[in-house]
Amino acid sequence: MATTTKNVDPEELKEWTVVLPRRGKQRRGSLPKIRALEEQQQKPWVPTDLETDPERESKLMQKMQICIKKLEDSEFYCTFLNQILTPEILTYFSRILGSEIKMQMVVYGIGSIESYEPPRLQLSLAILIKRTLNWIGDIEVFDPVLSAIEVRVLEALGCCVLSVNEQGRREAIKPTMFFMPHCEAVLYDNLLKANWRPELLNRMVLFGNSFERYEHHVVEFKNSVVVDSAKHVLSIRRFTNEVPIKTVSDDLYRAFHDLSWHFFNLEAQVDLQLIAL
Ligand SMILES: C[S@@+](CC[C@H](N)C(=O)[O-])C[C@H]1O[C@@H](n2cnc3c(N)ncnc32)[C@H](O)[C@@H]1O
Repeated sequence: MATTTKNVDPEELKEWTVVLPRRGKQRRGSLPKIRALEEQQQKPWVPTDLETDPERESKLMQKMQICIKKLEDSEFYCTFLNQILTPEILTYFSRILGSEIKMQMVVYGIGSIESYEPPRLQLSLAILIKRTLNWIGDIEVFDPVLSAIEVRVLEALGCCVLSVNEQGRREAIKPTMFFMPHCEAVLYDNLLKANWRPELLNRMVLFGNSFERYEHHVVEFKNSVVVDSAKHVLSIRRFTNEVPIKTVSDDLYRAFHDLSWHFFNLEAQVDLQLIAL
């Protein structure tokens, strides 16, 4: 695998090492290092639904295990992984990693995993990615709708739930995969705005709604709502390598339709202006 002193060879990323999540590890204290000023401004987040119920928790855990298994055995997941392991995509990931050995994963906007299946399937995908690829580091998750029960299940599955609402504004200080299926455009825009420098954008990959489709909406339908909420999304298009994923099975369509990998490749001196629309 990758060492800390050399660029990673895409071939090395292909090594599939199953890394099991550290179950039940309590890591709520390990907050991400976000800017001091933002930290002062942001209040700690606590779930609105604070109820604890061991039965509900165990039912949800069971549902999650079933979901992970269903996804792992699916044609969709096989196709998804094979796509990641193509030389083209591995080269993109390798460029983001540079000399680092791990890429952390930040999951925003997962939704309620207790109430709906698409969020469960999306979380299962994030967990399987980490279990399968040994160059994926810790998973941090945040969605303001999460309940205390959901937080406990997420932690039992090895995820760290943020205790601050970053509003999607995490800077990619280190290589980071932002896993944001079907989020609102404004969340992608906040993220891009916070990383609006070549060295930060080059250190991240964003898995989420197709930016191409946002652009299409603007061009075809003159959708002014998209223009207003997605200025950075639309402006970064020309520096983006967008790779759509394939939704091969109908029963997984709702969870994974119209999602793409977005890789950014910018020269250090590039003039990152917002395009006028
Ligand atoms: C359209 S829903 C998508 C939910 C789920 N991913 C799905 O496909 O069904 C967008 C989600 O983003 C969440 N969200 C809103 N603001 C957020 C924030 N500041 N940080 C993280 N998630 C946020 C919402 O609570 C909501 O669950």
